[in-house]
Amino acid sequence: MKMALVGFGNVGKAVAQVMLEKKEVLQKIGFKPEVVAILEKDGSWIDEKGLKLQEILSLGKSSPAWKSNTVSKEIIPELDCELIVEMTVTNIEHGEPGLTHIREALNSGKDVVTSNKGPLVLAFPELMGIAEKKHRILLYEATVGGAIPLFHVAREALLINEIISITGILNGTSNYILTKMTEERISFNAALREAQERGYAEADPTYDIEGIDAAAKLVILANGILKMKRRFSDVQIQGITKVTPEMIELAMEDGYLVKHIGYVDRNRIEVMPRLIPQGSPLAVGGTLNVISFHTDVAEDITLIGRGAGPRETSSAILGDILYINKIRKSER
Ligand code: HSE
Repeated sequence: MKMALVGFGNVGKAVAQVMLEKKEVLQKIGFKPEVVAILEKDGSWIDEKGLKLQEILSLGKSSPAWKSNTVSKEIIPELDCELIVEMTVTNIEHGEPGLTHIREALNSGKDVVTSNKGPLVLAFPELMGIAEKKHRILLYEATVGGAIPLFHVAREALLINEIISITGILNGTSNYILTKMTEERISFNAALREAQERGYAEADPTYDIEGIDAAAKLVILANGILKMKRRFSDVQIQGITKVTPEMIELAMEDGYLVKHIGYVDRNRIEVMPRLIPQGSPLAVGGTLNVISFHTDVAEDITLIGRGAGPRETSSAILGDILYINKIRKSER
């Protein structure tokens, strides 16, 4: 399958790295990835015969395939490939550059996998409309819950169920901070610094600690799973910046933990710090995320996994890529 990677930050590099590492597994399942382009904001690596990923990972912009000053949105429609993997930085105010990249890709007849929340938060119905009109697939597993394959589970394994509500911890950075404050009694700022150093936090960490990232993910869950047209402005948001060590201590004395919980059903969509009983399935620590689907047949299904981190996120992206490959192969 010919594909292009758009955005080559930590996540893009992890996707390339894991594809190299898993060459034999990919071969066994009949998937031959041919990356014909990698696009960055200040240039691109392009080779229609397939780029040498190892060389690009080690040489970066010193690789002979590098050309500076190319413009991604202009190149995307011209690329001879079936799939665009959009992994540029999330912006939920205007969605760019990802929004234009996804529109250009779908409009020029390419399937899309994205880890970019911004375009989906701002334009979910529009993008799905273009995908449907053009008979293309747009998948976005990595946008919510990091490595957790929650959209796959909802779309396939739980197909017979009506999903009534979704509750969960949707931001790895804020869960990491609350966990560190609880278990190691370190300050809010020290815990945030650690999360940033480990590459969990958003480019602007206020997205994480003010609940903006979690709210964006709730909008994607509402649209993608509950099939409701919810917008960012519909979400009632409270971040974790007002949680104090004293609150955490008092909660602990009563057998509770302070957790940043997102919730969405037909009537409510909100994220805020809440008291969760110690030992509850929702009481996961560190950068773990948890998603609990309340359904009409299976009752409650809870999934736990790494919610942040480039390598973990690449698992979700590659899951989507392989799913598209399977569908396209079955059509041939
Ligand atoms: N900053 C996000 C988080 C990354 O901490 O959960 C994954 O969306």
